[in-house]
Order: sequence, then C-alpha cells, then structure tokens
Amino acid sequence: MWHPPERITHPLPEARWPGVGEAAAALLFKPLRVGPVALESRTWVPAMVPWRATEEGFVTEEVIGWYERLARGRPGALVAEATGVRDIPSGPLLRIGHDRFLPGLQRLVETVRRASDGHTRFLIQIIDFLAVKRRPEKEKFFRRFFRPTERHREALGMPGASDEAVRERLLGMADPDLDRVLDAREIESLRFGYRERVTDMDLPHVRDLPRVLPGNFAAAAARAEKAGFDGVELHYAHAYTMASFLSATNDRPDGYGGPRENRVRLPLEVYGAVRRAVSPRFAVGARFLADEIVPGGSRVEDAAFFGVEFARAGMDFLSLSRGGKFDDAKQPGVGWAVYPYTGPSGYECMPTVISDARGPFGRNVADVARIRSAVREAGLETPVVVSGGIHSFEQAEGILRRGEADIVAAARQSLADPDWWRKMRLGRGAEIRRCVFTNYCEGLDQKHRPVTCKLWDRVGLDEPGVKTIEEGAGKRRRWTAPAWEP
Ligand SMILES: Cc1cc2nc3c(=O)[nH]c(=O)nc-3n(C[C@H](O)[C@H](O)[C@H](O)COP(=O)(O)O)c2cc1C
Ligand code: SF4
Repeated sequence: MWHPPERITHPLPEARWPGVGEAAAALLFKPLRVGPVALESRTWVPAMVPWRATEEGFVTEEVIGWYERLARGRPGALVAEATGVRDIPSGPLLRIGHDRFLPGLQRLVETVRRASDGHTRFLIQIIDFLAVKRRPEKEKFFRRFFRPTERHREALGMPGASDEAVRERLLGMADPDLDRVLDAREIESLRFGYRERVTDMDLPHVRDLPRVLPGNFAAAAARAEKAGFDGVELHYAHAYTMASFLSATNDRPDGYGGPRENRVRLPLEVYGAVRRAVSPRFAVGARFLADEIVPGGSRVEDAAFFGVEFARAGMDFLSLSRGGKFDDAKQPGVGWAVYPYTGPSGYECMPTVISDARGPFGRNVADVARIRSAVREAGLETPVVVSGGIHSFEQAEGILRRGEADIVAAARQSLADPDWWRKMRLGRGAEIRRCVFTNYCEGLDQKHRPVTCKLWDRVGLDEPGVKTIEEGAGKRRRWTAPAWEP
C-alpha cells in the first residue's frame, strides 16, 4: 500500500469508554430515521467485501457467517458488500442481477434479523463496474491483444508491414522506445492491464450506459426489497461506473459528462428509476466520495453540489467515503488486476497509522461536515453518514455533537471487533479489541482472499465448532471473530 512520504507512525489514540449511563445519554445510541426506516442507534457498519461468495455470485455459508457475526454486535445499520446489479460473471462477488440470487439473499436477511435480535437494519450496496483485465505478459499482449494500425507503422517506419511484423518489432522493443510508439491507453493496457472507462464512447456498451443502468439498478433494488432488505445503498463511490460518471475527469460529450450538472444526471436518473421500482417503506441512499483525491478529480465543492442534488431528489441518506480510484493505483504484478486502493487515493480511503502529520483518524470528517452544511443550508434534513478512521466512543460522539455528521460508520474497527458497539453501549468498552489500522485485512482483499482480522484469525483455532480456512502448509485462519456473550 502507498503511504504518505512523511511516514509518521501515529499511536492509536487513548480511548475512554462510557459507562452504561453515559452511553444511554449519548447521541450515538439515540434512534434516527433514515427515510422510512428507523435506526435504533446512529452506528453503522459500511460495506466490506469479504471474498466469500461463490464464483457465480451466490451467498455461501461463509457469507452468512460473516454477516451473522457482524449483526451480533447490533449496529444501527449494517450494509452488505458491493453486490453486482448485472447478470454477468464477476468472480466471487455477490450478485443480485437475477431472481436466482434471491433465495440466498433471503437467507442472509433472515440471518441478520435473528443474529441482531431485530435490532439492526440491513441494507445492501448495489454496484456496477466496467471491465478490468489482468496485466498481461508482454508477449501475450503483443501477440494476442494488440491491434496494429497505420499510426504504429508510421511511427516504426514500417509502411505496408504485416500485422505480425509490427507485433514482433514491438515485442522486441525496450520500454522507452515503446513509449514513443504506443499511445497512453495502449501503454496502460500493456503495463497495468486493459481497463474500460465511462468515456470510451467508441464502445457501444459504454455509450449505452445511460440507457441501460437505470433499469439494471432498479431491478436490483426491487429484488433487494423482495429479499427483505430494509434498503439499498447505490454505490456511487470509489473506482466504479457511477463514481466515474460523477468524476470531474468525466468529459463524455453526450450530456452525461463535463459540468457537474451533467455528471450528476445519470446518478439522479438511476436514483429516480430505483425509487419508482421500490415501495415507500424501502430506504434508498447513495455512497459517494467527499473527495476523489486524484489529480483533476472531483473535490469537496463538487461533492457538496452532488449531496444537495441527491437530497433534493429525495434520497434517504448520504454516505461519504473518500478516494479509492484506479487513476493513481500502483502497477500490478503480471497476472494481477490493478487494485484501486494502492495509491494516494487508496490511502485516503483506508488510511493506516503510517501517515502524514494529520494522521489516519477521521480524515474524512471536515469534508463531510462541509457537505452536510450545504445540504442543511439547502433546507434538507437528509442524514449524512461519515466513515474513515473511526476508532473510539469519544471521537464518534464528538462528530455527532458538533453536527459534523448524523451517523458514524466504522468498517475496520467493526471487523476487528464486531461487538464493539454493543460493548460500548453496555459499559464494557474495556473489553473492546481495538483495530490497529495497519491493513492486514485490506491486503487480503487485494489478493481476493477471504478477509479476516489479524487480531483474531489465529486465536482459538482448535476450540469446538470453530471453522477455519485451510491455507496449505498447515496454516489456518478462523473465518469469523471469536464469540462474545454479554
Ligand atoms: C476488506 C474491505 C472491503 C471493503 N469493501 C467495500 C465495499 O464493498 N464497498 C464500499 O463502499 N467500501 C468498501 N470498503 C471501504 C470501507 O467501507 C470503508 O469506507 C473504509 O474501510 C474506511 O473506513 P474504516 O476506517 O472504518 O475502515 C472496504 C474496506 C475493507 C477494509
Ligand atoms: S486486520 Fe484487523 S486490526 Fe488490522 S486493520 Fe484490519 S481490522 Fe484493523
């Protein structure tokens, strides 16, 4: 992972945990309405992909186990991982693009209801993404994927040469020479792997996205309601299709790119289609970026504009993340796909304790507060969810008291200790297993391996009933955090 060049190691801040009375009086544990849905507290577990679905995108026992464990901690809301809206193969990521996925998702909903004893509202994040191919071997790239053109022949001084001759010449060339002959996209495909963009207007399926996506998202949301979820979170964040429409780098010439009024158009049309496809009892909100971080990307002013537009259109919540883009990601190894959390924008999304002077904790808060103010100034009361480096009661409660956000989300701390909300509420904060923010979990995510936490995945492996991931050479990890009974 990329780290700020200052490489200042920040200690985990001291935490003072509340007693039962203080917790009961805290804003954090007061109810809040998210549109039609009543949250019992303002605590939220944001989407995390744990790499446990089948290759075909179905719910597995391990997916069930992951959400069951998180639900036992009784957060006000739990958001199921990014789940694909289309009916296309996408590896072991959950999918909701067809009714055949319904039975598994229904079981998942029932599990969360039961495990949280009805205390947690369960939403699902729905996503669309474009093609990202693995970085190819150089030889494979030139012999299989590369399309020679007149431009290449001219640059090589090979007029009339066959495709094969051009390919072979390029294959034998060193990197600096290739930089002269290939264009930026060809170089990217060679060194990072081919990646589609929403601005690839020469690709018919990309040109058609505004026509296709509202229907895809709407059908997925209707399915989510049928499965029993309390709502959907439209994934408009990080490196994926909808975030790319919102991005300041989107210059599509068809009315869906350029000025921010155009960039927000498809996200609003998707929202409108989703709203029409679900009942008034179902919550619909979006997760988007307070700042894209990448050069030329959207900044907080854009995000404030989008937030007001989304709130005005009637979204039930606005959840803010940060960064996580392909644009500044590190070059992947041959055979691996580029991963959008390896550059500076990835750092901002999941900051670690090796940081700059600001440190990793609450880096998103100031921007989220600005976005929330803009929404309030527009006369709208839509709840705003903040995430990024949330680690303690006092920090979370302070954010709510100062009106910087309405709901506090913690991903890694909830993975480190799914019971942390409950322990806090019961005055047992001293028992919380605190996340150390060094991103072992994110490293697993990057390798598409089942996500676990280093603080508990080797603990009590031989206890009765503990299921483990067998990793070869005698290495084992447990799938879920050890049980905790109050
Ligand atoms: C393993 C892992 C998987 C994640 N998957 C998603 C995802 O599916 N969708 C999403 O919006 N964010 C995802 N995130 C980002 C988190 O929701 C969150 O924004 C980020 O970790 C920062 O919050 P934290 O400091 O509380 O961990 C993921 C994070 C981790 C660690
Ligand atoms: S592995 Fe555990 S302790 Fe480390 S960052 Fe992830 S959740 Fe936190």
